Amino acid sequence: MDHDQPTVLLPGDVRMPLLGFGTWQATGQAGYDAVLAALDAGYRHIDTATMYGNEEEVGRAVKESGLRREDVFVTTKLPPERVGRERETIEASLRALGLEYVDLWLIHWPPSAPSDSIPMWRELLAARDENLTRAVGVSNYSTAQMDELIQATEENPAVNQIRWGPSLYDRQRHAEHRDRGIVLEGYSPFKTTDLSDPVLVRIAAAHDVSPAQVVLRWHIDHEIVVIPKSVTPDRIRANADVWDFSLTAEEMRDIDALGG
Ligand SMILES: NC(=O)c1ccc[n+]([C@@H]2O[C@H](COP(=O)([O-])OP(=O)(O)OC[C@H]3O[C@@H](n4cnc5c(N)ncnc54)[C@H](OP(=O)(O)O)[C@@H]3O)[C@@H](O)[C@H]2O)c1
Repeated sequence: MDHDQPTVLLPGDVRMPLLGFGTWQATGQAGYDAVLAALDAGYRHIDTATMYGNEEEVGRAVKESGLRREDVFVTTKLPPERVGRERETIEASLRALGLEYVDLWLIHWPPSAPSDSIPMWRELLAARDENLTRAVGVSNYSTAQMDELIQATEENPAVNQIRWGPSLYDRQRHAEHRDRGIVLEGYSPFKTTDLSDPVLVRIAAAHDVSPAQVVLRWHIDHEIVVIPKSVTPDRIRANADVWDFSLTAEEMRDIDALGG
């Protein structure tokens, strides 16, 4: 992939590539190999989390890739049960990753005690202000839960990472993110999709690509960040090879309609 990656702009002039690489369940040597293969295939955005237990492998692959730090966007996530220990958790992430900062730090899911959410959000903002992360956001938050953070702090999450795919397409929910300047980042694009759906198969055939590539391109054309995971070299490469076609407005509508 030798052209510039399409990005979305986060507050603070942070450019986030629309295509990222998921690493959940990619651990140990397989995780390291997958991330190195992904960077070689052209991904410039890697998604990890404290909970994934692979930050060390991700960090080593980023380093070994020979890419410049500023050319790779790295996300990690805070498990909400670490409330009160946020600072030590990001410091542990940075140590494991071997990085001085991450690009995006997310609250992995809403804390079980709702009253923990605002103090935790303030800790993320503090970490950003100290340059431990360039941007901060949330994951698995409803719009109402994000609005509580915004009302309390006047700071919007830069991103909400949620389960997303054609079968979950929800125009209203996407608009609620856009209206607040929050980037929607989708996860589990394949696990949420029937890749043998006739609509996807027809559109894929029309462009001589696979249904999986159509699903990824559909996210990108909606300006929704997408982070497919694979530990299979061919799939890692194919999932990054989505730049030589684009979907027509009618095809986009047909895929949107899979969301019922
Ligand atoms: N914030 C959250 O709570 C949360 C939750 C879930 C996921 N995530 C993030 O989102 C990333 C992606 O989601 P995910 O890992 O749940 O699922 P996914 O990316 O939708 O699917 C991964 C599965 O699809 C397979 N696959 C990959 N490329 C394929 C292709 N071209 N054709 C057919 N199958 C393909 C993979 O197999 P192989 O690996 O065997 O090739 C793997 O079994 C995660 O890795 C993680 O970084 C975040």
